[in-house]
Amino acid sequence: MRELTLRLVPAEIDLGMALVAAGLPVDDLADPGRKYFECRDRDGVLIGYSGLEECGPDFLLRSMVILPEFRSRGYGRELAMATIARTPSAAEIYLATTTASAFFAALGFEAVPPGSVPEPILSTRQLSGICPASATIMRLNRPPTEHGTRP
Ligand SMILES: CC(C)(COP(=O)(O)OP(=O)(O)OC[C@H]1O[C@@H](n2cnc3c(N)ncnc32)[C@H](O)[C@@H]1OP(=O)(O)O)[C@@H](O)C(=O)NCCC(=O)NCCS
Repeated sequence: MRELTLRLVPAEIDLGMALVAAGLPVDDLADPGRKYFECRDRDGVLIGYSGLEECGPDFLLRSMVILPEFRSRGYGRELAMATIARTPSAAEIYLATTTASAFFAALGFEAVPPGSVPEPILSTRQLSGICPASATIMRLNRPPTEHGTRP
């Protein structure tokens, strides 16, 4: 595992530009309840961004982008896992994607029907409007935690 450093950043212009360039939505970027991280390598070079949106007890993994020149080197996998590690272990992690479902499936996410998705996730702006209806909704399969399942 390389040493990627994540740092909380505001919904700033550089983040927005990286997302737009990757074709990801930015309409709700500055809404409350979101956290964004910039990711740098051990030399301090900016590699990409990720985000978490809190939805009740669960989280939407969102706004994940590796800058084009750094793709296909394993950074995406590392960034996703480091971002997920910042959520409580009992939380469910969801995402919506139109292009990267195979990438996320390799990380342990599986496609789920909208009917099985909790309302706070379904009603996020990403899932209720911004993402195309063709987007795949995925949920992370986590091993049971030592604290057991959520009540
Ligand atoms: C998706 C993304 C974050 C992956 O980052 P990355 O650094 O290129 O990914 P990694 O190098 O960690 O790839 C890990 C594996 O996933 C595969 N993979 C990467 N992107 C993929 C994609 N879009 N679809 C399918 N598989 C993909 C890689 O081939 C690699 O497989 P391997 O381990 O068998 O070689 C990056 O391509 C990106 O920023 N894309 C544009 C924005 C986007 O689609 N974000 C996700 C939607 S929220």
